[in-house]
Amino acid sequence: MNSHDVRRLQHDHMWPCTITYYEEPVVLAEGEGVRVKDLDGREYLDFFGGILTTSIGHRVPEITRAVHDQVDRIVHSSTLYPSAPVVRLAERIAHSCPGGLDQTFFTSSGTDADETAVMVCQAHTGRLEVIALRHCYSGRSYLAQSLTAHAPWRTAAMTLPFVRHAHAPYCYRCDLGLTYPNCDLRCARDIEQLIRTTTAGEVAAFIAEPILGVGGFVTPPPGYFEVAVDIVRQHGGLFISDEVQTGLGRTGQKMWGAEHFGVVPDVMTMAKGIANGLPLGATVTRPEVASSITGLTISTFGGNPVACAAGCATFDYIQDHSLPAHVDEVGTALREGLVSLKADFPRLVGDVRGMGLMQGIELVVDEAGGDRTPDPDAAVRLMEATKARGLLVGKGGLYGNVLRLAPPMMVSGDDVSKGLAILAEALSDVTS
Ligand SMILES: Cc1ncc(COP(=O)(O)O)c(C=O)c1O
Repeated sequence: MNSHDVRRLQHDHMWPCTITYYEEPVVLAEGEGVRVKDLDGREYLDFFGGILTTSIGHRVPEITRAVHDQVDRIVHSSTLYPSAPVVRLAERIAHSCPGGLDQTFFTSSGTDADETAVMVCQAHTGRLEVIALRHCYSGRSYLAQSLTAHAPWRTAAMTLPFVRHAHAPYCYRCDLGLTYPNCDLRCARDIEQLIRTTTAGEVAAFIAEPILGVGGFVTPPPGYFEVAVDIVRQHGGLFISDEVQTGLGRTGQKMWGAEHFGVVPDVMTMAKGIANGLPLGATVTRPEVASSITGLTISTFGGNPVACAAGCATFDYIQDHSLPAHVDEVGTALREGLVSLKADFPRLVGDVRGMGLMQGIELVVDEAGGDRTPDPDAAVRLMEATKARGLLVGKGGLYGNVLRLAPPMMVSGDDVSKGLAILAEALSDVTS
């Protein structure tokens, strides 16, 4: 089978809504570290890691070995039977989380982790209403699509009535037309009015990503979460930090995104990279919140022993290699390179933002001339140009005009430089 055969079978036998990148989707066949090969033998530098999910790298020996060992023992148990890798991972998660978040419920996706987080907050508070952020993404269930604040990502015509959306801390395109810091964080303060005017005052939870991933790596300004979470708590709601993209050291220095913002979540959700690519989700909270769910609940695939063995090896690798510090170092180099590309391409590159190895560039019609109209066509051309030169990157943002760079966390400074050089050439291709 070659790439062409795979694309044909996908076209014939898979739902057309299964979106793929590129005019000719890349058929990945193998990977090692930050490099992947397609089925026709073409090699790419992988700066997206399957949506920030190959968190450490491809075919990391320590993780592969842990998976093999577990497959040789038992591959499935369900949550009805505890097993060693599952409780070991729960312990590692508890040790890594701030604020006494000590107990985990395992699922098999981020969607399910967010569902579980909302469910436990509703059970704990006896309330229903949930506040989410505009531009956020929570997944593909009915509730998750209702939380998600991007029309293109919603297939349901109706959203659940108990969800309200606050202004995103999106400084480059401030809904309120203000500029940080003179804005005095009005987007956060507006949550008070949102609660008073659009809810019954019965807020169960505020769910937010520390950096809005699918939203295009929208990064809140300092102080945002302190104000927002304080308001929600004054109204009796809990704070859910959706760490599905920002967790595990991805943002540099810290293990969890919320830790950069001076707030301690009541609940944290994680998925994507926690098992370096194996399907696993987790919802973590304090014991008194966790015990609020008294009804029967299971997750057949949640806490799968193979995924949890990979999760344990992933956490060990992060700790043994001090990855959050490494991410900070190489992430700073990536950021500096992108800032200098903005100077070289002052019309097209409107904004550079993110933290650690989660960096985005927002493409606009003419930043230098003051026209910030989103340029999604440029993003499509840039995706093709980077691919043609051997670099895989991601795309995002409400308008599809943000390029997302998030290489596996083991990436070296050398490979960051190589990725930046390819991006510079691709930007030249697109602008010439
Ligand atoms: C922040 C965030 N939360 C939740 C999800 C849903 O995760 P999954 O696709 O594993 O259901 C995603 C997926 O992109 C995400 O980025």
